[in-house]
Amino acid sequence: MIQVIGAGLAGLSAAIRLAEQGIACSLISAQPSERAQSVLAEGGINAALDTMGEGDSPAEHFADTVRGGCALADETAVRGLCDHAPEILKRLTGYGVPFNMRGGKLLLRNFGGQKKKRTAYARSSTGKIIMTALIDEARKYESAGLIRRFPHHECLRLLTEGGACIGVRIRDSFTGALTDHFGSVILCSGGMNGLFPGMTTGTTQNTGDLTAAAFCAGVRLANPEMIQYHPTTVGISGKRCLVTEAARGEGGRLCILRSGRPWYFMEEKYPELGNLMPRDVVAREMFFVRQRQDTEGSVLLDLTALSGDVWKHRLSDLREELLHYLSLDPKQTPIPVQEGIHYFMGGIEADPMHRTSLCGLFAAGECCAQYHGANRLGGNSMLGAVYGGTVAAESAAALPGPDRQSERCTAEEPHTTPADPAFCADLRDILLSGLGIVRSADTIRAALDRLYALSNERAYNMREQNRLHLAEAMLLAAEVRHESRGAHYRADFPQTDPAFRKTASAEFADGAVRITFRALPEEGELCG
Ligand code: FUM
Repeated sequence: MIQVIGAGLAGLSAAIRLAEQGIACSLISAQPSERAQSVLAEGGINAALDTMGEGDSPAEHFADTVRGGCALADETAVRGLCDHAPEILKRLTGYGVPFNMRGGKLLLRNFGGQKKKRTAYARSSTGKIIMTALIDEARKYESAGLIRRFPHHECLRLLTEGGACIGVRIRDSFTGALTDHFGSVILCSGGMNGLFPGMTTGTTQNTGDLTAAAFCAGVRLANPEMIQYHPTTVGISGKRCLVTEAARGEGGRLCILRSGRPWYFMEEKYPELGNLMPRDVVAREMFFVRQRQDTEGSVLLDLTALSGDVWKHRLSDLREELLHYLSLDPKQTPIPVQEGIHYFMGGIEADPMHRTSLCGLFAAGECCAQYHGANRLGGNSMLGAVYGGTVAAESAAALPGPDRQSERCTAEEPHTTPADPAFCADLRDILLSGLGIVRSADTIRAALDRLYALSNERAYNMREQNRLHLAEAMLLAAEVRHESRGAHYRADFPQTDPAFRKTASAEFADGAVRITFRALPEEGELCG
């Protein structure tokens, strides 16, 4: 029995692929699939389908993804991702995903960092609509006994024996009962949003606690300093909410008032891609234009020139949300937007077969790092989740797991106590001060000093201790990367340095965090 942790897009894709091969799995998740972060994904999913007659190809998708990630992604993995994307879109269509279509062909839209229209979409609720179809597909296998769901069960930690992962300990959120589940494990537990309450477009139900627990159990992380700020978010009820990049893909323009008049700064500086430059570039430009003496107020997203057809058929959900939650009609007025934490390119180090540094442990989706390098392109996350889940399932299926049934556990479990909200707020503030859009040796060191002071303030429970070590890994990796690359912009090292075209690899051993730089695998080279 294989244990799939997380029931979002990556977890569902893994479970379905296992079931298709006749392999039984548990699908364990703190929340049911319907509440996974994947349902929040808006804009679309990339594949070089070339249905718009632009001469697109998987090779161009590969080149854009590697370039967008500033040459830090694992190119073997990216090649697999882009080559399989058209087949994945066909599979999703086969599951009944109602993508926007015309004349029997999938419509594609522009997304950031890509010169060709490559993003398939279902209005502006693509994640929710794909998830609905996958949930249905999984139910088919559930009834055949191949997928057993455990919603409302939190995975507390990995079980290891003889240097291998042999299962997981889970907790029923309603009864508190602890159970050990044995078998190889596929972690699809999402990003580290829980470290950034109130500052992320993602759900803080994705606490990052499993990543932290795996790290402290010896699993290596890659590039934990690489955090994506999405340029266009709005504040709703103390959260950052996404205004999809598709709004700019459909013609939205960023501006700021300069001498009382709108200044379309992205178009002026980047005539080719303009508002659709990769997210790291747009977020940085927004940050810098706000600092200038001659500009006033917030950056605005001007959607007033979009046609009625675009609003009706392609961005209807976005307008509804803005009207409903902020009483703003984007058809009438430019809306104030701000950068918000959106995605973690770094995470559990995984090779192109989605194996991690711990035998028996696989990882897929946002919890792991390999496809996106120093900056992810919009539309590649859902693709990475579906493809990654599928590959992880195939790799896990090829590895014999321990042959033990699940068993009820009565032992004391130190991972059950939640992190204290005041501690979470302090930790978030420290991380934000060191891992902002613009970083420097001084700000990162000051954040590390505050982190060490916090660590010494009192005795912490297991989750809190793990989060402190994870935070230290993120800050230390940022401190030692003496260059600017993608989302990691250092004011004191503003250039990209080819000597740092390496993975910042974080390890936790003997109670200490250590960062080393590892050479990127050559394309075609498999680790393991
Ligand atoms: O802006 C968006 O719709 C986000 C898409 C993504 O992160 O892939």
